[in-house]
Amino acid sequence: MPIVYDKSRKIFRLQAGDTSYIMQIVKEKYLVHLYWGRRISSYHESRRIIWKDRGFAPNPDTSDRTFSLDTLPQEYPQTGNGDFRNPAYGIRQENGSRISNLEYIGYEISDGKPKLPGLPASSGSKKDVQTLKVYMEDAVAGLKVCLLYSVFASESVITRSVIFLNKGKKPLHLTKMLSMSVDIREDEFDVLTLYGAHNNERNMDRRPLSSGTVKIESLRGTSSPHQAPFMALLRKGADEDQGEVFAANFVYSGNFLAEVQVDPYRNIRFQMGMNPWNGEWKLEAGEMFQTPEVVMVYSKQGLGEMSRTFHKFYQNHLVRSPYAKKERPILINNWEATFFDFDEEKLLSLARKAASAGIELFVLDDGWFGHRDADDSSLGDWFVDKRKLPNGLKSLAEKIHDMGMQFGLWFEPEMISQDSELYRKHPDYVLHTEERPYTIGRGQLVLDLSRKEVCDYVIAAVRQILKDNPIDYVKWDMNRHLTDVGSMYFEPDRQGEITHRYVLGLYYIMDVLTSEFSEILFESCSSGGGRFDPGMLYYMPQTWCSDNTDAVCRMKIQYATSLTYPPITMGAHVSVVPNQQTGRVSPLATRGYVAMSGNFGYELDLGNLTDEELEYVKEQIQCYKMIRPVIQHGDFYRIRNPFNENLAAWNFVSQDQKRAVAFFFEILSQPAAPVRILKLKGLHPDKLYRRYDNGEIYSGDELMYCGISIPLKKEDFRGEMYCFEEIEKGEENGH
Ligand code: GLA
Repeated sequence: MPIVYDKSRKIFRLQAGDTSYIMQIVKEKYLVHLYWGRRISSYHESRRIIWKDRGFAPNPDTSDRTFSLDTLPQEYPQTGNGDFRNPAYGIRQENGSRISNLEYIGYEISDGKPKLPGLPASSGSKKDVQTLKVYMEDAVAGLKVCLLYSVFASESVITRSVIFLNKGKKPLHLTKMLSMSVDIREDEFDVLTLYGAHNNERNMDRRPLSSGTVKIESLRGTSSPHQAPFMALLRKGADEDQGEVFAANFVYSGNFLAEVQVDPYRNIRFQMGMNPWNGEWKLEAGEMFQTPEVVMVYSKQGLGEMSRTFHKFYQNHLVRSPYAKKERPILINNWEATFFDFDEEKLLSLARKAASAGIELFVLDDGWFGHRDADDSSLGDWFVDKRKLPNGLKSLAEKIHDMGMQFGLWFEPEMISQDSELYRKHPDYVLHTEERPYTIGRGQLVLDLSRKEVCDYVIAAVRQILKDNPIDYVKWDMNRHLTDVGSMYFEPDRQGEITHRYVLGLYYIMDVLTSEFSEILFESCSSGGGRFDPGMLYYMPQTWCSDNTDAVCRMKIQYATSLTYPPITMGAHVSVVPNQQTGRVSPLATRGYVAMSGNFGYELDLGNLTDEELEYVKEQIQCYKMIRPVIQHGDFYRIRNPFNENLAAWNFVSQDQKRAVAFFFEILSQPAAPVRILKLKGLHPDKLYRRYDNGEIYSGDELMYCGISIPLKKEDFRGEMYCFEEIEKGEENGH
């Protein structure tokens, strides 16, 4: 059983894959955290709490000076009665009081996992997962809290969420409502987070835990490219292949907070949830609020195992699109080829070249609607621009279909341009605060998705286009962050809710459209990977990883993105050189290998390539079609880390370990260069594998432990690919 309750000792033991998570009820009312780590078969209080009277640690019980909330490892800590560390939640009563005191009142264990209404969340069958609900109450405030722990039996994953219920007669304000809080009585960890910017998403930042708080967050209204909603604690010395990792990822696309605090006695508090800054919620009597979900992953074998746990979990339990299990088409996107400057003939000529090269999906990007010749007009006017496409979208889509390709279309549905029909009709649809001027971003404003009426407009507008035209794929973009957050449609004391209401509105829109058009493949985007989070993945099974298509930059971006998200979710395209973001000239082969390491496509004008280059592109496409099942549905292993060295390498292994594809990159050519050895990972040691390019045969253990020597080359930004396929024993003799 994944969840065991020991009645006599009042101990909960959650058993998920390789991990155990243990809590105890102390003094009949406090829910105390005892252990999260490698799975143990039983627990007989070896790791008991050592009680001690500490200075400045207040005591709720006058008879026991060793008992203080300030030193107690808690599951869902509060503020105001003796714990001076970071609280997990906060309230404000109608009388202004901000003190709270939750006491344990009961629990419930059930098979399966309840849905989180209005929110994206993982799911599982009654066989896969059990859920523990721990009920706590603050009788004075009239607050009831339910802590939810869903425990996946064969994956090292526990998910957490919290429900608040106002049981009182008066309104209650939630001022902080995190989804996860864990007090760990150890401090020998490093903290890993992912920071970045537009064109430079997800850089790895590993720092030792010292004193005080390490905090990352987004206050931008979206999860943002600036910090990913991810934090991991790595046991000192842990690396890619060994050592314990405790990771948390937030299934949410708005403002978040992740922090880890070291207390004076070297205990740490690890927390994640919605950002409390401008993030209040008012609960009327009888109302409930549920927090989004945190996915907690434990790995006993470093970051590699952590990532594969996330990858499998997201593919099997989060991404709800029928495409989760399907291979994705190779696409060509016209954005970097034409920008806003196109007409039907230009698109068709690009499409003809793409079709003859073997590309499977043609995506028409920004600029097809309203009168959009630049980025400062027409958002909201989701009807075709007849100047550019006089025969309409349907005719274009049909012509593309006739070439044997699918047809995809770009939208940015959450936005409105001041120069648009929509704005002229509905200036009130803009997210804004009365009396204040708008703050423009990329020449555009944000729609007020906290209002259902506005959400319904977006649904109707997008639905119309999807109904009227044979569309196979949608790119859902979002190119600025939230400012002037406010909505006159809500009372003054609900203005702190608007950022979350925006996200709920977005989830409602995506829920309706992706359910209604489940046969359409959706890709999310936010100026590249600016909103690459599990919340978006729930609705849309792939994300444009970055607007930066430079192969060298992409090595890092995709490497770090793979910490949590599987390569099948990462849109990765070959583009022109000099690269439009960096000016770098890298070989077409390397651009191909980097893009083939994800969800492959092209984003350039094939008409500008030489015949030789075009032939090579055809070969790349043929090659990707062959390796696609391994890349998209195999296991992913990182081998060399481009954040640390002049190299990058990784390999993919099919689930049955019969096929493998490895990529190796040396970024700058070096004098007196060492000969590099590439050691593969994840193969079956006893199987025999044939190397595709030269027919040589090696055992899995030779490839993994002995490795292959990489020939020297005088070339910057060089890439190599090695493909392997299992052969039956005995077959090698005949070779
Ligand atoms: C964003 C996207 C790009 C492209 C442009 C169009 O920047 O990330 O891929 O779609 O918008 O305006």
